[in-house]
Amino acid sequence: MSENKNQMPREEGIDHSLSLLREGYMYILNRRQSFHSNVFETRLLGKKAICMSGKEAAEVFYDHDKFKRKGAAPKRAVQTLFGENGVQVLDGEEHKHRKEMFMSLMSPQAIQKLTDMTKHQWETALSKWEQMDQVILYDEVKEIMCRTACEWAGVPLPEEDVKEITKDLAAMFETPAAVGPNHWLGRRARNKVEKRMGHLVDKVRNDEINPPEDTALYRFAWHRDLEGNLLTTDTASVEILNILRPIVAIAIFINFTALALHQHPEEREKLKSGDKQHAQMFVQEVRRFYPFFPFVAALVKKDFTWNGYGFEEGTLTLLDLYGTNHHPEIWENPDVFNPDRFAKWDGSPFNFIPQGGGDYMMGHRCAGEWITLAVMNVCLDYLVNQMEYDVPDQDLSYSLVSIPSIPDSKVAVKGVKRKA
Ligand code: HEM
Repeated sequence: MSENKNQMPREEGIDHSLSLLREGYMYILNRRQSFHSNVFETRLLGKKAICMSGKEAAEVFYDHDKFKRKGAAPKRAVQTLFGENGVQVLDGEEHKHRKEMFMSLMSPQAIQKLTDMTKHQWETALSKWEQMDQVILYDEVKEIMCRTACEWAGVPLPEEDVKEITKDLAAMFETPAAVGPNHWLGRRARNKVEKRMGHLVDKVRNDEINPPEDTALYRFAWHRDLEGNLLTTDTASVEILNILRPIVAIAIFINFTALALHQHPEEREKLKSGDKQHAQMFVQEVRRFYPFFPFVAALVKKDFTWNGYGFEEGTLTLLDLYGTNHHPEIWENPDVFNPDRFAKWDGSPFNFIPQGGGDYMMGHRCAGEWITLAVMNVCLDYLVNQMEYDVPDQDLSYSLVSIPSIPDSKVAVKGVKRKA
């Protein structure tokens, strides 16, 4: 490269993977603050790595000429969270073709179907909760979302398997940063559920079961790649889990929704009016404010210079999602929970990135973002307008270090009653 380059701020030391694990959501943010820089160099997993934060960083990170995904995801996350050969690790035309398969499930009608199913499951759960002394919301909502996810995806879920499948799907997103026994819990869960999905894919292909045509099970079983071949059974299973697992993970946002309502009673009052725009702003603020996905990873595709800094081919690069959503250059008083800020949000695909940024079809932005918003709105309405409950004293603190972060008590509620 012939351009003049500046030295990127650099964290000294042999390796900082442990600091990343120790500081979690705050790792990039802490260094962004101490270096006074939206980009810095460090060493992770034994190699040079770059961390970036902010709107401009997101714009360059989602430029497909500059970054690629193949080989970027850490092995631990592949073994638990992602699975092998899924859409997350594809690039270029192959990615676009696979992504279309996902986005074909996200029509307004399909999203309506999912929200109707979610409502139905909340109704059933509400009748059960009215009979219970105490309800642990996180655990209950995971089960609601597992039932909903399977029904929507066309995946049969016998009643006697509900608890186990819920536990296994949750283990995949509760353990990606874990070491030791919890990591193995996540891996075992993935292997078990992938096998189960594989049997279902085979059954669809052998005409032994016939899920509706608009479901993930049907579409993914019959999807053909760019060469006209069906996906391998393993890859089809991984992709079905890329639907089921994150739908269950919406339980984390629902938990934070309940927490936000508890901590901001004045917001609850405003939401009682049923104003849809205000509800949407509240949901957006929950996704901005609370920690969920800390960062996303890619590799530099070919050498380039950005803001005077050299990016060398093959360098692991992390884009800070949590830190961008709390960036003072983008958000006024970023550490204050304030849904009203979304009345003025410009809708940029790069400055508010809880589920990634950029373009859905061409890039890796979350395929399920519309679904997440729709489901969160349904659940918010239930929590505010369809039910009453008390929140007893408990430890509602949540960590900015453990990934994923969940309120310590998982939000226990008592005296649940359906509103008249
Ligand atoms: C629960 C809340 C969710 C969060 C916080 C979340 C977050 C994310 C993030 C950060 C990415 C990576 C973006 C990138 O690599 O640039 C992603 C990708 C993805 N998400 Fe989500 N997601 C959620 C829900 C969902 C749902 C409900 C679905 C599906 C029904 C889903 C399906 C996917 C898929 C398939 C990808 C890979 C997209 C690609 O590589 O092109 N997610 N999500």
